[in-house]
Amino acid sequence: MAKMWTGRTGGETSPIADDFNSSIGVDCRMYQQDIEGSMAHATMLAKQGIIAFDEAEQLIKGLDSILNDLKTGALDFDMTCEDIHMFVEAELTSRLGAVGKKLHTARSRNDQVALDLRMYTKAEIDTIIGMLEKLVEVLLMLAKNNQDAIMPGYTHLQRAQPVLFAHHMMAYAMMFLRDIDRLMDCRKRTNVSPIGSCALAGTTYETDRFFEAEALGFGDIARNSIDGVSDRDYCIEFVSAASTIMMHLSRFSEELVLWSSSEFGFITLSDAFTTGSSIMPQKKNPDMAELCRGKTGRVYGDLVALLTILKGIPLAYNKDMQEEKEMVFDAIDTVKKCIEVYIPMLAEMQVNADAMLNAVKTGYINATDLADYLAVKGIPFRDAYKIAGQAVATCIATGAVLETLPIETYKALNEAIEEDVYQALDIKTCVERRISTGGTSLKSVLEQFEYVDAKLAEYKAAN
Ligand code: ARG
Repeated sequence: MAKMWTGRTGGETSPIADDFNSSIGVDCRMYQQDIEGSMAHATMLAKQGIIAFDEAEQLIKGLDSILNDLKTGALDFDMTCEDIHMFVEAELTSRLGAVGKKLHTARSRNDQVALDLRMYTKAEIDTIIGMLEKLVEVLLMLAKNNQDAIMPGYTHLQRAQPVLFAHHMMAYAMMFLRDIDRLMDCRKRTNVSPIGSCALAGTTYETDRFFEAEALGFGDIARNSIDGVSDRDYCIEFVSAASTIMMHLSRFSEELVLWSSSEFGFITLSDAFTTGSSIMPQKKNPDMAELCRGKTGRVYGDLVALLTILKGIPLAYNKDMQEEKEMVFDAIDTVKKCIEVYIPMLAEMQVNADAMLNAVKTGYINATDLADYLAVKGIPFRDAYKIAGQAVATCIATGAVLETLPIETYKALNEAIEEDVYQALDIKTCVERRISTGGTSLKSVLEQFEYVDAKLAEYKAAN
């Protein structure tokens, strides 16, 4: 494809340089944004009297037919073009003749690429928000369907205190709600139109940037043309939000991997979302969870790459910026793929409440409750803590658990202990008594369901 920018340069570029310089293989996915942007640009040019109305009409018709042909597959991308912007313009000119060349009036590829990437990212933010909402809905369903399941809550991966499985699931719901919130916030700064910044300094034509921005659904325009073509903060914010989503999925994945092991046995992942081993017939591997954990590294890499690309480039546009799209697209693709696999994987996951309860019963997990019981009887908490510790040591030495330690043994530890200690040590009681707001009692967990439901409704109404 002949270069549109030949003018000053007379000599031919090397095919090696052409190949190195080309971005169409990456940015062709923004073809729809590129074409819609051009349609709005043609409309604005005509409204402002910069081109004639009938010329705008021809341009828009031509652009529309290109869009259609690309969608139906009647037209293929010409991979010898430098980028998607060059491709669309060249195709338009070959279809319309000279009038096609008028489209690029009062515009530069610098503001064009900035526009396309913002439109593309904004649409993907909306898609990812929708996917996260579904993920939270599955978590709610899982929690509501397993309201009675009690599992060990851990600190340091040591059994700490009993919690409702539903409570644990709601912890993840809170994380993903924050992720939605982060994306919505980043969307605000993505939703700013750079078009009309032109190469960097604005233009001599009397354009209407507000009109063009509004036609494309933007909330505002970039108020400084140099910043308009240079700003990629929203990419960093988006990939940072994507990294946080991945970090949440990765922590969850780590738990699913542990829980599905024979050592835990808390959950069984469905056959549809596990794999076998080519040599060990007994195996059922949690590959999907492991891959999500692994892919987290990719997205972190995207973030670090973006920050690094931007840190040294002077204002305004520099070709380094062409690289950014790959990182943004990779983060988008990876996050979407992971959430896409998570939703059905969780929906089909079997919760093994018995195995959870077994783990709860053998971990002296109610030792805090014993200390609290003694404290209520008037023993200072630090002393109560010691006595409870001695009780656990006795259990370990005799192979008992706190619930089965004989009353005489308790009495020997402290006279204040009475028969009602067994009621206090009952696992269900331990859970049910944690009624503090945000705690693990069913009452508090039901409140969390309501909170999550309300947040979801709020986000859905806003989107
Ligand atoms: N392909 C370029 C990119 O993705 C488009 C903008 C190029 N502008 C320029 N003056 N070379 O960044």
